[in-house]
Amino acid sequence: MTSAVLFFFLFLVCASAEHKCQHPPSEWCSSWEIAKECQVEKQCLDYYSLKDLKRDNEDNVRVELYYESLCMGCRKFLALQLYPTFLMLHDIMNVTLVPYGNAQEKNVSGKWEFECQHGPEECYGNTIEACLIHLLNEDNVYFPVIDCMEMSENVTGSLRPCLEALYPDLPVKTVLDCVNGDLGNKLMHANAQRTQALDPPHQYVPWIVINGKHDDSLQTRAQSALFRLVCELYKGPKPVACAGKDVTPLKRDSLCLN
Ligand SMILES: *[C@@H]1O[C@H](CO)[C@@H](O)[C@H](O)[C@H]1NC(C)=O
Ligand SMILES: *[C@@H]1O[C@H](CO)[C@@H](O)[C@H](O)[C@H]1NC(C)=O
Ligand SMILES: *[C@@H]1O[C@H](CO)[C@@H](O)[C@H](O)[C@H]1NC(C)=O
Repeated sequence: MTSAVLFFFLFLVCASAEHKCQHPPSEWCSSWEIAKECQVEKQCLDYYSLKDLKRDNEDNVRVELYYESLCMGCRKFLALQLYPTFLMLHDIMNVTLVPYGNAQEKNVSGKWEFECQHGPEECYGNTIEACLIHLLNEDNVYFPVIDCMEMSENVTGSLRPCLEALYPDLPVKTVLDCVNGDLGNKLMHANAQRTQALDPPHQYVPWIVINGKHDDSLQTRAQSALFRLVCELYKGPKPVACAGKDVTPLKRDSLCLN
């Protein structure tokens, strides 16, 4: 049944990609290079997920990212490591995004005001993303939208195209009402508190916390090969994706967003 579903997906998708795909269907999900060549990455993810349904998510590896919306290093980590790893391993990892980073807050007559490292536009971007997380609630819904924004040249300017392409059910206006209202302010304050409570305190961004822990070695490994780190730290039965040879997160230019 699982294979039948897979091949049905693959057939539909590859009908349009056969000119590029040099492999028979039975090999399409055997490596990410082939999946990418045959343009079936998403279908392979579904396939892996179907096989992994019985896993107990109490064992999930917890990955927290403290970041700010316009920092290049954060955008790179999010787009090249965290999101591709999440796509492949979401069954065994819980991701928490905390947009705030090196911002500062102060209480100006009862309302929180924020100052961001890369200026007001970054505060705006952070608040948009905090509102998306709050309003969309599920990581597999808000993460694609945030990834889409962070990979765009203009992060804040891409809210509308990204949301309309990926989650048209949520009107842009609802997000902007959150951003410009008390809710956005509260969400940013919560992110400020969460960031200020880090132990050890963050010294830079992206600041990565794995299973509640941050140290230089975890940070370095997460930034260079998060996929392997998550597979290795996961204590339950390893998902199929972890067993793949040379599985590394896809380069973004090979993740096709149409
Ligand atoms: C991961 O998230 C799921 C769903 O929210 C939750 O049930 C599970 O306890 C979490 N796992 C860990 C290790 O935090
Ligand atoms: C913020 O400032 C107002 C007065 O300016 C004060 O009443 C309130 O308690 C302060 N809130 C916090 C959390 O410090
Ligand atoms: C992004 O686009 C908005 C308009 O949508 C503009 O106000 C802003 O200056 C742009 N930011 C950058 C960094 O180009």
